[in-house]
Amino acid sequence: MSERIAIPAQGLDHARILEQLQGFRAQDADWKAGRTWALVYYAGEAHYDLIKQAHHLYFSENGLNPIAFGSLKRMETDVVSMTASMLHAPADAVGTMTSGGTESLLLAVKAYRDRARKLKPWIRKPEMVLPRTAHCAFDKAAHYFGVKARYAPVGPDFRADPAAMRKLINRNTVLLVASAPQYPQGVVDPIEDIAALAREKKLPLHIDACFGGFVLPWLEKAGVAVPLWDFRVDGVTSISADLHKYGFAAKGASTLTYRDMSYLKHQFFVSTDWPGGIYASATIPGTRPGGPIAAAWAALHAMGEDGYVRTARVAWETAARLRAGVDAIDGIRNCTTAHAPVVSYMADAADVDIYVVADRMTEKGWEVSRQQYPACVHMTVNANQAPIVEAYLADLTEAVAWCRAHPEARKTGEAAMYGMMAKVPIRAFVKQSVLKVMEAMYAPGVGGMPDLGNLGGGEGDDPLLKLVDKYGDQAMEALDKLSDARAALKARLGRRSPRR
Ligand SMILES: Cc1ncc(COP(=O)(O)O)c(C=O)c1O
Repeated sequence: MSERIAIPAQGLDHARILEQLQGFRAQDADWKAGRTWALVYYAGEAHYDLIKQAHHLYFSENGLNPIAFGSLKRMETDVVSMTASMLHAPADAVGTMTSGGTESLLLAVKAYRDRARKLKPWIRKPEMVLPRTAHCAFDKAAHYFGVKARYAPVGPDFRADPAAMRKLINRNTVLLVASAPQYPQGVVDPIEDIAALAREKKLPLHIDACFGGFVLPWLEKAGVAVPLWDFRVDGVTSISADLHKYGFAAKGASTLTYRDMSYLKHQFFVSTDWPGGIYASATIPGTRPGGPIAAAWAALHAMGEDGYVRTARVAWETAARLRAGVDAIDGIRNCTTAHAPVVSYMADAADVDIYVVADRMTEKGWEVSRQQYPACVHMTVNANQAPIVEAYLADLTEAVAWCRAHPEARKTGEAAMYGMMAKVPIRAFVKQSVLKVMEAMYAPGVGGMPDLGNLGGGEGDDPLLKLVDKYGDQAMEALDKLSDARAALKARLGRRSPRR
């Protein structure tokens, strides 16, 4: 544990401080080299300079008082309006900017919960129905706002299954959710079918397009086949779309657009009795930073439709080259073909452990995003990655061969941790372990990432994890058998009394 530090007794020299910051930064991921995926969306140096300048101009101005800084409200209105046009929203559409995808999703859930409180006051335990692949920020929203998340399994193509969602709707349901696209495999859910279900059940439908909201419209214009997903679909009541992803704005910017004010009004918060004054806010923060709003306004104007279509097309072609390369490597395969510039690949041979491949790629200097259910690797592809495709595929070919030659590698590194976590049948155990890591990260005086060794590999001291390492496979097998038996029993009962 590092020592607790205090504010220096005397302020330091500015040049020295900046030098130190540069030093800290040099240790972090080098995102400009195109070796990271999804962390930073980079549209080239000229654009990057512009959004930095716009951000800087509004460094201190903020949205705490929209009257004092009227230009920020004006820019927010412009950004919401441009987004609504892109999403083919009707003339009555309204919305707000937020600090990111998570805030957009939190607010959507809060708005629909509060709407139900007004329109269906008999609902005591509100629920939302969503595909299992919907972003985990919905889980956070469920946790924060007391709305139960009911997850429907997805189909073999990783898209939401409207029939499975239908089964979970009941009299407590206040919201349906679908994604365009979902993050793990980049596929767009069958939104027309889910919207038909929403209309039939008279339920609102939120589309989470945080990830792809600013790329799918341009891909469509570039001639790529994208299923209908936006406000053109009757029944879609709101859409979240992040500016700080494929919108190429500065971090801290997303949008949340509603079909009309009858939905948005439930997002607002007003406090009337505080001695500090009457306080109203449209979104979660009080003092909303001005920088991300100005930078988003600048980004939309600088990119223009032509810039967005051009970068979307190159990103799409780059993803296609990566997918073709993955398919050409014996032992791995693409999970699916995404509707967005996304690649996700998995093992396709018994002697390939995708987490070992991932570890090997990390050693080679690539940032790797590991996923579960199924075990796979995720890549968010951007136009600036066009030049690194060959280098990536060459390293991937070697990594797969290396994995096959080193079966012992499954017991080490992150492969061991992910492998074991996948074996833990009771997810509360996983949660407990991750909470321990969080506590370690936020322990007094700790300056960096704690050692993750104790979380995996069965070499840590935690007796629970040792048990899981030893008996996890058997437990998973037993659970599989149990669920097969349950399904068989259900089928038998169903045959006996067909009306049930
Ligand atoms: C589909 C989807 N929704 C929501 C989010 C959350 O966005 P943020 O990380 O900006 O809070 C993400 C992030 O990747 C996402 O992919």
